[in-house]
Amino acid sequence: MSSEGKKVYITRRIPQPGLDILKNAGCLISIWDSDEAIPREELLKNVSGIDGLFCMLTDPIDVEVLNAAGQNLMVVATMSVGFEHIDVAECRKRGIKVCNTPNVSTDSVAELTVALLLLTARRLLEGVDAVEKGQWGPWKPMWLCGIEMSQRTLGILGLGRIGYGVARRLKPFGIKRIIYSDVCKVAYADDIGAEFVDFDTMCKEADVICICCNLTPQTRHKFNKTTFGKMKKSVIIINTGRGGVINHDDLYDALKSGQIFAAGLDVTEPEPLPADHPLVSLPNCIILPHMGSNTWDSRNSMSETAGKNIVAVFNSDVPVGAI
Ligand code: DGY
Repeated sequence: MSSEGKKVYITRRIPQPGLDILKNAGCLISIWDSDEAIPREELLKNVSGIDGLFCMLTDPIDVEVLNAAGQNLMVVATMSVGFEHIDVAECRKRGIKVCNTPNVSTDSVAELTVALLLLTARRLLEGVDAVEKGQWGPWKPMWLCGIEMSQRTLGILGLGRIGYGVARRLKPFGIKRIIYSDVCKVAYADDIGAEFVDFDTMCKEADVICICCNLTPQTRHKFNKTTFGKMKKSVIIINTGRGGVINHDDLYDALKSGQIFAAGLDVTEPEPLPADHPLVSLPNCIILPHMGSNTWDSRNSMSETAGKNIVAVFNSDVPVGAI
């Protein structure tokens, strides 16, 4: 089996490395030549007869798309770590390989998680806002006070590559204890002295919770009215995993009523979050537009990895991100 002459459809303009990999492997590329997401009807029309699909996390790849692609489809490669937008079970049934881009965005997402945590914990945007609005008066002992990391307990939901990267980066800030909750214990937790605890214990004991897990039926709305009720009033929640892990109505209530201190979200449900969403109005909720992996280093590597995964499947080799 060879990649020569195989038809690949790319659902968006992508960084050059992925294109180079596919071109050099002799693939015939068609592309949705836009920075915006491909409309559904165009996707359904354009995938007909392809051998490989290079998609984004914004493209739901379901039975309808697979049917529209037809029998030649061998591989669906997403330019993301998350793959909840792909019907993996249906792909398996049809013998279509599904691949993601693990490893290459670990550092960028871990860095952004730490940045968002510090931004949120120290109320930095409120400070910038006050300066810009001319509200910076004489120094005040109790103005815009936040929470520091030293001596705190850090809780991580999902101690995978990114969760580990976040914990490793935060440890030098003087974090006293790292606890994590996951589907099972992980061996490398010992490297950072992280303790495996059940989810309830993490909610009760953490001062800072970083959500670094995938969205699955088990993690959907894991953070809700009940779990917020178990947390410290001073807790800070940072989500760079997937928006659906938090029930946003319950989060709004918890932040508004002061049941929890603050939240920093790089991912929301839905995305994009409308500007008039109630969470946007809260000073103790900082929201970023899903930019965890927005570095040229990561995006070039993600593009390259997705391209390599497609070629690997065509050549009957093992892709890096086989799901
Ligand atoms: C991923 O890779 O899944 C990220 O969310 C994209 O930034």
